Amino acid sequence: MRGAFAAPVVLLVAGLFGAATANVGDSCSTAADCGAGQWCFDCEPEFAGSSCVRSAAANPFQLANNSLPFNKYAYLTTHNSFAIVGEPSHTGVPRITFDNQEDTVTDQLKNGVRALMLDTYDFKGDVWLCHSNGGKCNDFTAFEPALDTFKEIEAFLGANPSEIVTLILEDYVHAPNGLTNVFKASGLMKYWFPVSKMPQNGKDWPLVSEMVAGNERLLVFTSIRSKQATEGIAYQWNFMVENNYGDDGMDAGKCSNRAESAPLNDKTKSLVLVNYFPSVPVKITACLQHSKSLTDMVNTCYGTSGNRWANFLAVDYYKRSDGGGAFQATDLLNGRLLCGCQDIKACSGGSGVVCSS
Ligand SMILES: *[C@@H]1O[C@H](CO)[C@@H](O)[C@H](O)[C@H]1NC(C)=O
Repeated sequence: MRGAFAAPVVLLVAGLFGAATANVGDSCSTAADCGAGQWCFDCEPEFAGSSCVRSAAANPFQLANNSLPFNKYAYLTTHNSFAIVGEPSHTGVPRITFDNQEDTVTDQLKNGVRALMLDTYDFKGDVWLCHSNGGKCNDFTAFEPALDTFKEIEAFLGANPSEIVTLILEDYVHAPNGLTNVFKASGLMKYWFPVSKMPQNGKDWPLVSEMVAGNERLLVFTSIRSKQATEGIAYQWNFMVENNYGDDGMDAGKCSNRAESAPLNDKTKSLVLVNYFPSVPVKITACLQHSKSLTDMVNTCYGTSGNRWANFLAVDYYKRSDGGGAFQATDLLNGRLLCGCQDIKACSGGSGVVCSS
């Protein structure tokens, strides 16, 4: 119990130090009430009222180091990163399709998202990002030209020379060199990590420090097998195993491969991707899913992947949680991968997080 004059003292301290004193879980009315790497969010219907929750991932390259192979780290991944609430129509036709995220790709990257799932289509003689079906983009399912998003990624990589970004393309582009042309126009080719350096037969990836030194900091995977030979764009499932997506990937206690992927325990693929989002994106349930069941699924998939922790963790509405959500799950993965702890912050020691492996 606080003394009678404690409240004014707290207010004074809060006034002096502002947001720096806010912790995850503190009540808030705007993000300005919260600390760095937090936002103010109401996880209704689980809780009434808004509180400060995490909005940024811990950086394992900084908290530990970047001297391990690329596949020894976990990367927070946004599903349909481009399908953003409130994105204005770029076709002149109002959009009638689902959204999956709530802030720009630039902000996603700034918040520590390091892998983006993008759906690429032939559209208007160009390549567009659309949330469509049947492999065809329409005016009412189009979000924006891929070039615009690629330029955001290029700007991030330029401004952050120690970071690596992975693109996982659900690819419907059939125009010859359609994607290659957009990658060239965006300026991203200078960061391209070549397929020839991607490991076969379950070998480790190059060290992150080497990838950074060589400035080969953009990994691109396509869902179209033939493009690995024709355009030098890696066929995703040559290098990665992946669980079911949508509702099939959300059954508690189950984690098995999607049809295109080898079984999760196939260790000839060095990267593991875990999807955790429903078939139809729903904002209201995302908070609870990220706060409660996500960690269980991460643990389940570890088991079915032949005791391998996921490298990519893909979610909708990635910032929604009651506290740590997808960020904490990523910290867990990095903790496990890097030092066997339940949180990356425990690896370096001294941060007050106890390693209870
Ligand atoms: C980098 O961090 C990992 C995980 O904490 C540790 O095992 C390794 O020894 C570190 N390497 C260097 C060169 O510091």
